[in-house]
Parts: sequence; C-alpha cells; structure tokens
Amino acid sequence: MERCVGTSVPRLDGFAKVTGRTKYIDDMDIPACWFAAAVRSPIPYGKIKSITFDPKFDWTKVATCTAKDIPGKNAAIFMLEDQPILASEFVRHVGEAVAVIAAPTKELAIEAVGHVKVEYEELTPVFTIEESKALKNVIYGNDNIISKYKIEKGDIEAGFKEADLVVEGEYRTGFHEHAYIEPQGVAAIPREDGGLTVVGSLQCPYYVLKTLKAVLNMDETKVNVVQAPMGGAFGGKEDYPSIMGSYVALLALKAKKPVKMVYSRDEDILVTTKRHPSIVRHRTGVKRDGTVTAMQVDVEFNGGAYSTLSQVVLARGILHSAGVYKCENILCRAACYATNNVPTGAFRGFGAPQTLFAVESHMDMVAAKVGIDPMTLRLKNCVKLRDSLCTGQVMRESVSAEECLTAATKSSHFLKKWYQYKDQLGSARQLPSPLMGEGQGEGGSPPPLPPNNRRTGKGGGDQGKEHIRRGIGLALYMHGGAFTGSGEAIMKTEAALRLNKNGTVSVLTGCTEMGQGAHTVLPQIAADALGIPFEFVNTAVPDTAMVPDSGPTVASRTTMVIGRTIEKCAAKFKTELEKFVKSSPKLAKAPFGEVAKAYFEAKGELKVIERYELPSWVRWDAENFRGDAYPAYSWACDVAEVEVDTETFEVNVEKMTIAFDPGKAVNPVLLEGQMEGGTLQALGFGLMEEMVYKGGRPLNSRLQTYIIPTVQDTPSFQVHIVENPVSHGPQGAKGIGELPVDGGAPAIANAIYNAIGVRMTDLPITAEKLYENSLSPKGRGSG
Ligand code: MOS
Repeated sequence: MERCVGTSVPRLDGFAKVTGRTKYIDDMDIPACWFAAAVRSPIPYGKIKSITFDPKFDWTKVATCTAKDIPGKNAAIFMLEDQPILASEFVRHVGEAVAVIAAPTKELAIEAVGHVKVEYEELTPVFTIEESKALKNVIYGNDNIISKYKIEKGDIEAGFKEADLVVEGEYRTGFHEHAYIEPQGVAAIPREDGGLTVVGSLQCPYYVLKTLKAVLNMDETKVNVVQAPMGGAFGGKEDYPSIMGSYVALLALKAKKPVKMVYSRDEDILVTTKRHPSIVRHRTGVKRDGTVTAMQVDVEFNGGAYSTLSQVVLARGILHSAGVYKCENILCRAACYATNNVPTGAFRGFGAPQTLFAVESHMDMVAAKVGIDPMTLRLKNCVKLRDSLCTGQVMRESVSAEECLTAATKSSHFLKKWYQYKDQLGSARQLPSPLMGEGQGEGGSPPPLPPNNRRTGKGGGDQGKEHIRRGIGLALYMHGGAFTGSGEAIMKTEAALRLNKNGTVSVLTGCTEMGQGAHTVLPQIAADALGIPFEFVNTAVPDTAMVPDSGPTVASRTTMVIGRTIEKCAAKFKTELEKFVKSSPKLAKAPFGEVAKAYFEAKGELKVIERYELPSWVRWDAENFRGDAYPAYSWACDVAEVEVDTETFEVNVEKMTIAFDPGKAVNPVLLEGQMEGGTLQALGFGLMEEMVYKGGRPLNSRLQTYIIPTVQDTPSFQVHIVENPVSHGPQGAKGIGELPVDGGAPAIANAIYNAIGVRMTDLPITAEKLYENSLSPKGRGSG
C-alpha cells in the first residue's frame, strides 16, 4: 500500500472553508441565545471602591455577574492563579473586566453596561520593564518578578579570558498582536441535565474545562467544552478563552439561556494577550579565527498585569537565547517583569522569536567585528552531531543546522551577493543624506545595481533608482518541539482511534485545528499506521465529553507527540481487526470499509486509547535548567534579500529563501504553507507590527492602524525541505508550528545592515526608526 505520509492530500477542512460553508462561532445560530458585554476598567491600575447598578435601569431584563456572583474560584487556572475572571479588589490593566452582562440583544447588553458605575482609587501604574525592574512601584509580589531562570554551561569567565575580542549588543522587541482573522468568540449553552456546554474559537478545550470546573464549581460530568471551527489563533487562543468562556458560562447559568460573546476587533485587541516585549543583552567572547568562546545573555520580558503563561514563555525564551551555538561557556539569565499593561502570553514562537532575533542579529555583529562573513562564523560555531546546546543537551540525532545553512546559502548565492552588496557601501560607509538631497555617499561610486525586478505597483523601472540599496542577510535557528524537559511525561498525554458505524476511523484528540493542518496530518499518520486508504480516516470534533485529554495544541507538539501516540493506537487497533478477519474468513479479501462495518455490527465500537511516552533518554533538571530541554529540535536557515530605499527608508523584502528540517514532510504543501505564512508573520514582526500604548491604552486597536503584511508585502519564497528524521516521531516527523516565526526578523535586520551599514536593534524596523538610526553615528555599524 502506498504511503499517505509524504503526499500533499488536500486539507480535510479546506473545501468547507474556502467555499464559505464553515460555520464559525459568530455564524452559529443558537436558538434563544442572549449576548454578553463587559464592564471594563478605563484605568491601568487602581483599587475598586464601589460598583453601582443604576436604579433607574430595569435590571430584570438582563443577567449580571460580578466577582461576588462566582460560585467557585475567581481565577483563571493557568500555572499561577493570579488572574481573576472578574476583578474584585484591584484592576491591573486597562480593559480588565469588572462585571459582565447578558441580554436578549447585543444592543441591550451594551446599554446595560453603560448603567454600571465603578468607582476607583487610582494607583501609580508601571508600564515598562525598566520601571518594573527599578521597583518604581511594587505591583506584583514583592519584587515585580513573575519568573526568572538561569542557565550555566562551562566557565563563563574562563571563556572571556580565552577570547581575543568581546562584542556587546542590546536588542529590543515590542508588543506584537496575533491579528487572527476571527476575533475571539465563545458561547455557553445550558444542557438538559442542568449542565453546560461551552463552545468557541479556542485552542485548548481541556484548558478551558479546567478553569470552568474551578470557576463554576462543577465537574466534567456537568460541563463540556467543544472547539468550534477557528479562524486562526497563533497562541492567542491558548489562554484567553478560559476567561471569556467563564464569562458566558457564568451568565448562562444565571440567565438560564444560551449566552454568546464575540469580540469586535478593538475589544479583542484591548484585552487579549500580546507577544512579550523584550530587552536582550549579549556579551560574547570570540577568538580571531571566529571561534566563540563565551556567550553571556540577559533576557528581560514585559509580562503585563498577570502571569498567564509567562513562566513557560520565558523558559522557551531563555532556552533559545544562545541559539544554535555549541559554545562551551554560556551564562544566560532571564526574568519576566509584571507591568500594568494587558497581559502578554502565548504567541507562535513563545519567547523564542525575541531571543533568536537578539542572538542572530548579534552573531552578525560578532562576525563583522572579527572580519569574517556571517555564514562562515555560523558554520564554525553551530552544533553538529554530538555537540551540545546551552543546557548541555547533547545532539544525538536529527541535527541539521549545518545542512539548512548550506542549502539556503547555496540556493540564494548568499556569499557572492553578500560581498557584492557590502562593497556597494565603499570604505566610508556613508549613506546619501535624505536631508541634503545628495545622490551618493562619499565612499566611492557603488557598482551597478542588479536589475530591478520589483512587482508592479511597488516601484518603477530601473531609471532613477540610485537610492535603492540591496542587501542580503541570514538567520540560523532551531525550535524545540513539545513541552520543555519532562513536561510531556508529566502531562499524561492521551489520544485515541475509534471505529465508526459507517466503516470509517476517527482520530480522537483534544488537539485542535487552527489552520495549521493538524486535523489532516493526524489522519494521514493514522492511515499509514493502520495500512488503510486516507479516505477512511477523519478527526472527530474536539469535545471534552468525547475525546481524551491530549494536552494543549501548542509548543509545536501536535504532529510529533499526538502523531506518535496515534501510531501506538493504530498498532493495537490493527491487531484487533486482523484477529477479527481471521475469525471470519469470508472477510479475508474484503476492502477495509466492509471489514470495518462487519466488525462494528458484530462487536460494536472499537476504541483504542494510548498514552504518549517520552523517549527514555530524556533527562531534565528543571531546577538548574540542565539536560534535555526538548525531545527534538527542528532547524532552519532563512536568507532575506531586501531593497532599502535610502530616500524614504522603506524596506522591501524581495525574496526569502528558507531551508528547514521538519524530520519528515508529512504533507509537503501544508508544510510549505506553514513556513511561508509564518515567515510573513515574522516579516510583520520585523518591519511593521507594533502595538502602541499611551498610559496603558492602545492607540492602534484596529486593523486600519495596526499594520500587518498583506499580499503587497509578500516576498517571493524559495522553500527547501531537508529531511533528517527523529526516531521517536511518526515516520520521523518533528513539529514546525512555531519555527517559521523565529528567523525572519533577524534575517531581514541583517540584510538591512548588509545593504546600508545600519544596525537596527529595535523591532519593528519602521522607516522612521531606520531614518533616525542612519543619521546617528551610534546606529552605524563598524564592521
Ligand atoms: Mo503556542 S504560542 O505554544 O499556543
């Protein structure tokens, strides 16, 4: 039988989505449904003095809920339980909900919100990492620190002694909004048995269930959570639906009606999590030959008002902060600080895009100081088989940094272009001054520029393009798949296969489809493991009443972890069916569908549940961050080719060449889609996307003002798949959900440096910032 893994079968959810038939939560027509709205804090930090319901309003027409109406715990159940569902004593960020109201119409719910008066005693807020760290005001615990970690490898002081040069740098990133197409939405529907079904646009049904059980004081026999089709999530629907799901559940119980809540874009942007802003400082010792002898990295994240998932985001951040390098002497320190901003949380990449931007920008600066090219420096220092990363984790298999670097640089003719574009600067490295209107810098005339091949609409022809400088830059990076260390073993991840009456087989998993293709890829893996055609396999709707707890759909874990568990299920499942066929010889030659139907008729439903097993070699010391941080790493190299307009300082990314190792390409088309989509997201992070706040209030809470890349900004992509299988993944597959967001920004920043000699250390690299930096000598590179 031909294998299904490795072929690009169309997405099972694709047809309904592209033809507009899919019903998202906002489309779902729930009979007699009420709508909810929230009373939100207008201030970033304060004590709640009183909540008054206007006696002139008819409150009998609506249902209301404040903290004191919560039957169970008033907390979202994440790692820490520091975030209330509804604020009771303090508000800690603008937009925090103090009360929620449901009414038969949205308009009435919004009107009722206007009749709730909350009095606050305003307190002094803290907004930045610097203010929080300096304890300008203690707003969280006794030191404002949500969490901190340290990694030590070798002897950092000895490493600096060995070095001929020490290179320092500081790198910053800002608030980054998920901008999923579908805003957050969820509904609660009372069940006939007095229980409640919560359905919505959510990544992790079992996370929502955990919070609902605590908040409602109910057990899983009384409440179930169902994932509705989802219009994107990117990590943004990992934690927040637990809070929003609690709003509608509480109101549905009070109103005894179904209650739905779907955010408008600005409400969504106001209250849902963002990517952590970061400051990362590097101090690197290097020998004249380019050998890196010491890496000291200090990571600081802005955690916002509550922890959400900051502890694990910071862990992933620090674990990727020394990048792909085998350096023998490493010291990394990381801390996440609380502020009175909207909480920051999970966002595709989960801390790694920030720290990888820093290290991959910094490595270019190290190369420049040493006087070698960025590719050679990386070739010399990246891990190969049996080398170790910063936690001392020895690379035992499937390590492809070198192969990805080689593939991407060869395909893009990196070195040749890099030297050519570097030389266009001339020795004085001077830019044409936009203020003086000069045509050229003084460093000698640049070589003729390559033909201009911009897409129409973005530029003109070749004439008068002296102000366009080209540049090429690269980033080499990895992403750890699955939960950190022993996380996957502690979580007791389960998945199942079920034989259905109609002769098909369903994958039963709590893992969700959010556009990444999981609900197609898992059936592909199941089909091969069962030895049956793909058309017999599907994925059941994730409903906590029906599917086992497979852990959250996060951390680039689904393909490898759930895929492997499904393979285990399939082995037993197949044996059971084979036994059945042996007992009824007339089925010996029958096609699978008939065997399956006959089985169902004779013996009823067949369901096999299995638990994921971590490879036995994984050893993780969570106390000291030593050992096997992840059971597998995916690897990639991005090469960005840019044009910088030295009059307008706009950056146009012409081309991205990406070579990456997913272990095994389960579905090559979906895989390339992931890499291209994620890289475009990284381009947005690198060049244009930034939430701007004033006094804790967003100034750009719409997609008109929060600018994300569109098809106009999309470069041409050249994607190369390198397959280095991992022995404990399904047919060798590793995860790549987050990998694509990790490398684009530093590759682009490095290409800008190659083009105009200006080192940008602060994302996003807007035209304004690039202009300012090109004027100040500080921003100018010295390499
Ligand atoms: Mo993810 S960013 O691990 O939901």
